[in-house]
Amino acid sequence: MKSSPAARVSASRERLSIHKPAQGAPKSSLTGDVRAGLTAAPKVLPPKYFYDEAGSELFEKICATPEYYPTRVEHNLLEEVVGEVIDLSEPDVIVELGSGSSTKTELLLQAVLSEQTSLRYIPIDVSEKALVQAGERLLRRFPPLTIDALWSDYERGLKHERVRDQQACKLFVFLGGTIGNFDHDEAVELISTVREQMADDDRFLLGADRVKDHDTLHRAYNDDSGITAQFNMNVLRVINRELDADFDLETFEHRAFYDPELSQIEMHLISKRAQQVSIRTLDLDVEFRRRESILTEISRKFTVAGLTQLLEEADMVVERHYEPENRYFSLVFARPA
Ligand code: AVJ
Repeated sequence: MKSSPAARVSASRERLSIHKPAQGAPKSSLTGDVRAGLTAAPKVLPPKYFYDEAGSELFEKICATPEYYPTRVEHNLLEEVVGEVIDLSEPDVIVELGSGSSTKTELLLQAVLSEQTSLRYIPIDVSEKALVQAGERLLRRFPPLTIDALWSDYERGLKHERVRDQQACKLFVFLGGTIGNFDHDEAVELISTVREQMADDDRFLLGADRVKDHDTLHRAYNDDSGITAQFNMNVLRVINRELDADFDLETFEHRAFYDPELSQIEMHLISKRAQQVSIRTLDLDVEFRRRESILTEISRKFTVAGLTQLLEEADMVVERHYEPENRYFSLVFARPA
């Protein structure tokens, strides 16, 4: 039997555990989402399915492109403000949504563990590989750390008993600007779910990308090396593999643009010609017109007022707002209202 990533970490079982919450009555699933999205008009796919092993690696490569500024800008900003964030929140537990490679999280863990002797870290991510790799790295770097990883989407992870059962003081973090993948109502719902898990002393740290000149935004999603295009295309590979579909990647192209009216990047896959694709597991044939698109991701860009409003609607208030000199990115530190 091939050893699963979860089995490989069993040596350090006491310090790193990975839970996969029960799939009971899932709000969404690949099969349901693909069927709904590809029979809708216009066609749409949820961005969470980008992140299989290859997709997570492509995303890390995007972060290293010169055009994709958010990761670097947020990292530098967090480096500057992490001391204050930790002083204000004094967490015993850090719960992170969409932890990915947890690179920025190291700044938080380091800051906490320079003040106290133990800390529990609960990363929630849809990529098991990312959880295992980051978990092993973090345990090596931070011996006093305990990790309770949740291999799950955000909603399910946040409601997991591992999060609920913690009596200790919590800092919830959602970095990278991924809140921008959700439309306004979905974002309010997600932040409200965070809010429901918070006691009065708990805090929330949110990273969000800002409205800025359109050229900078456009280039961040149209890098010269074409890595974002590969990342976008990867969702078709995922569907081919998981649902026995026959998408021909040569017949689709990447398109991403900034819509100033909606203050969002839209990322699409465009069918270069009229064609039919079959998704055998779903017993579904999907027709594409020439130049028909699938919306694969929105990435909303915020104003400070918009962020304040968003948190207010989720029953939180902004305690600190941090931004770099160029105002490219925001870190919002919030508490229950
Ligand atoms: C990981 C959701 C923050 O929206 O900028 C990067 C994903 N998509 N390039 C973003 C992404 C295309 C990214 N987030």
